[in-house]
Amino acid sequence: MVAHRGASGDRPEHTLAAYDLALQEGAEGVECDVRLTRDGHLVCVHDRRVDRTSNGTGLVSEMTLRQLRQLDWGSWHPGVPEPAAETTGLVTLDELLGLVLDWHRPVKIFIETKHPVRYGALVENKVLALLQRFGMASPPSADRSRAVVMSFSASAVWRVRRAAPLLPTVLLGATSHYLRGGAASTVGATAVGPSIAALRHRPELVDRAAAQGRALYCWTVDDYEDVRLCRDLGVAWISTNHPARTKKWLQESAAGPAG
Ligand code: G3P
Ligand code: CA
Repeated sequence: MVAHRGASGDRPEHTLAAYDLALQEGAEGVECDVRLTRDGHLVCVHDRRVDRTSNGTGLVSEMTLRQLRQLDWGSWHPGVPEPAAETTGLVTLDELLGLVLDWHRPVKIFIETKHPVRYGALVENKVLALLQRFGMASPPSADRSRAVVMSFSASAVWRVRRAAPLLPTVLLGATSHYLRGGAASTVGATAVGPSIAALRHRPELVDRAAAQGRALYCWTVDDYEDVRLCRDLGVAWISTNHPARTKKWLQESAAGPAG
């Protein structure tokens, strides 16, 4: 179970408060979106603009790390904790990697690079350089890797595969790609990542992916019936905004129906 943008149902997304809660709630992985600032830092922000999730306005790519740090990334959300300022600031990928690696049990980090973006391939280059610095770029196997890189962009996944062949990757997106076997095979992704809506429509995707030797990562799975569907189909990674209740539901369905 992967906490999507942290425990983002209960805390402001991509903040330390959200990631800390997710880890405390037993997430086995955390998801984050990364973007480059004007001065070349990788920050965990979903949107191109800062407007929805902070009290600022403008494009992440046109602001410096210092400018982004001055914004309030918490008070838009009803689940902002007290004292807020310490845990609802901007999070860099560097800081999130540190948090994940320091946690007392092994946790994976699913890093999503967004495209199209102003800085193009530089985003993957910087992600790989950072993973290298943390000793995470050449894991002994995909299963034992602490980091997974994901993108809706096939070119981005291919760049990662070419530069770091041992690192697991997820090609996110359209069902038709996986059914044709085309895009995921071509770029060598180790997993495919349909939305829950796509998986509901095409549950055979799990088998099709497995037949190609690929795992399946599904997002964003927040409803009881969907969690059960993923569990029954054998989805490898379920990404959710609500780690605690998703974990509870997974454990219930693992124990089998009551009575
Ligand atoms: O985990 C994949 C999922 O996050 C993709 O969609 O828009 O939430 O980044 P989005
Ligand atoms: Ca994402």
